Amino acid sequence: MGEGNQSSVLEFILLGVSGQQEQEDIFFILFLFIYPITLIGNLLIILAIYSDIRLHSPMYFLLANLSFVDIFFSSVTIPKTLANYIMGSKAISFGGCLAQMYFMISLANTDSYILAAMAYDRAVAISRPLHYTIIMSPRACVLLVVGSWVIGNSNALIHTLLTASLSFCSKQEVANFYCDIVPLLQLSCSDIQFNVKMMYLGVGVFSVPLLCIIISYIRVFSTVLKVPSTKGVRKAFSTCGSHLTVVSLYYGTVMGMYFRPLTSYSLKDAVITVMYMIVTPMLNPFIYSLRNRDMKAALGKLFSKRTTL
Ligand SMILES: *[C@@H]1O[C@H](CO)[C@@H](O)[C@H](O)[C@H]1NC(C)=O
Repeated sequence: MGEGNQSSVLEFILLGVSGQQEQEDIFFILFLFIYPITLIGNLLIILAIYSDIRLHSPMYFLLANLSFVDIFFSSVTIPKTLANYIMGSKAISFGGCLAQMYFMISLANTDSYILAAMAYDRAVAISRPLHYTIIMSPRACVLLVVGSWVIGNSNALIHTLLTASLSFCSKQEVANFYCDIVPLLQLSCSDIQFNVKMMYLGVGVFSVPLLCIIISYIRVFSTVLKVPSTKGVRKAFSTCGSHLTVVSLYYGTVMGMYFRPLTSYSLKDAVITVMYMIVTPMLNPFIYSLRNRDMKAALGKLFSKRTTL
């Protein structure tokens, strides 16, 4: 508190992924490639699903929603990071910083709940095929999607308001390439005990869907194993295996990042955030659709339509 000029902070300095110039160059090139891949990949998924009537089912609508979220999720950080690098600046305004934090938390949570809805959808389809159309009615689907957005935005609103009410003293260097909640709390010169408790609670809310995902996949596997068809078993294991890879990457990195004492956090951890902020939004469309024959057919049609126009 003694450093004066508190709450007069008008901008923050983003230290980057590593803080070292050569590594920042590499991350710049990496982000420059990943961003268009993420945008185009997710956009193609949405277009393919909307243009093919056979894909108008809960599973694909949820996938389109996931892609929709991922487009915005990767746009929260990458454009700002690229622009700052090109302009040789590391600055972000106080408002921009809070906006980044808000959208990062809300979209990460929405993503998490949609992933759970997708796993639940598969569990119902495989373990209760006769009741599938009743349980996953259009209404239920909309409810799952709207619920995901409501939970994500509520969680983000709480943490953003709590962080906005803190005072920030003269030190303004955010130890990451975007305004994450942990480095912001570290910078504050107010009492942050309550904020930290709420952050753990927030990560708890974020992690609840993981439990649903695990239960859903246990149901899928136990149903598939009851039916003695090696082909079916292998198919279920290969699709669910790749889903579980993304899922564990996503939740593993988020929980590894936030479920620990604030003091143990340093700029070294920024690279963990690259995993869930940058890499998973790019991987999601590929993992959830490349192994899928209907999806590939729809994508193929999308392209042939383009070329015959
Ligand atoms: C999201 O899911 C809902 C409910 O199934 C669907 O009506 C809507 O079109 C989807 N939105 C996007 C962007 O895919």
